[in-house]
Amino acid sequence: MDIDLPQGWEEAARCIAEEKPRRILVLGDVDVGKSTFINYLLRTLLGEGLTCSLIDADIGQKDLGPPATVTLGEFQYLYELRLGKVRAMYFVGSTSPRGHLLPLLVGTKLLADKAQGTVAVVNTTGFVKNAGFALKGFKIELLKPELLIALQRDAELEPLLRSYAHVHCLRLPVSAMAKSKSFEERRALRREAFRRYFSSAVERRLEVEAVRFQRVSAHNEEGEVEDAIGRLKHNLLIGLANEEGEVLGLGIVKGFDGRTLSIITPVKDEIAVVQLGSMLVRENGEELGFVRR
Ligand SMILES: Nc1ncnc2c1ncn2[C@@H]1O[C@H](COP(=O)(O)OP(=O)(O)OP(=O)(O)O)[C@@H](O)[C@H]1O
Ligand SMILES: [Mg+2]
Repeated sequence: MDIDLPQGWEEAARCIAEEKPRRILVLGDVDVGKSTFINYLLRTLLGEGLTCSLIDADIGQKDLGPPATVTLGEFQYLYELRLGKVRAMYFVGSTSPRGHLLPLLVGTKLLADKAQGTVAVVNTTGFVKNAGFALKGFKIELLKPELLIALQRDAELEPLLRSYAHVHCLRLPVSAMAKSKSFEERRALRREAFRRYFSSAVERRLEVEAVRFQRVSAHNEEGEVEDAIGRLKHNLLIGLANEEGEVLGLGIVKGFDGRTLSIITPVKDEIAVVQLGSMLVRENGEELGFVRR
């Protein structure tokens, strides 16, 4: 795909290929071209023979893997970037960061620490105002990136950048070709990403006695902690992990008879942990809403 290269984009990619910062955090409002710039940067780095990692923490508009997750990809060749294979995944449980700042932050840090490429690039949500502002600040503190890429239309990131002025930052303009996506377009992209992910899903049955449940600390109307079992709603999105707690993939709850949990999932490995998500989704990608956490 031909992309427009606004002033500074080429030079930024060239500098990064030369200096090889170990960890880069890309910041910007929605639709400013974060994904486009990152793809351009990764292609440039691979073209220079550098290995690179992508940590995709944009849980709503993913470039790598299914929504509601943070994912890690490792690339040595261009075709690997095109294939977009996920090497590791962390389940956030929602396509929106609201109410999920902790798993988003924990997942981003864990996967960034796993990254093996010479240069690791972290993509983020376009959530940069209000709670998003605080989140981005904590992300900078936690990830300690060597470089920030700030894509901004005007000066919307400056208050944040001022607070972290000690971190080297490249400010880049937004392309005139950057197009905004409507709420419906975003939802359609998520639907397609979920549908693609679940296209190879099969039904599996898990004995409740044989698995551990995580992310169960929800409060019911009386303020009591709800039993995990009570939250195993039809179409609940769940994360599935192995004995070590490493996420293997996602599933959708399809039935529960008190002892056996029926799910559909593309995961084939042994499942030891079920992490409860906060949204209801069908395998065709249709989102049915959120559940209270
Ligand atoms: N430099 C560019 N050249 C051509 N098209 C661009 C460029 N930058 C952005 N676009 C287009 O604008 C739209 C938004 O860009 P992109 O998806 O990269 O932004 P984003 O910041 O990652 O958005 P989101 O917040 O949804 O993750 C896309 O359709 C993309 O193709
Ligand atoms: Mg994006």
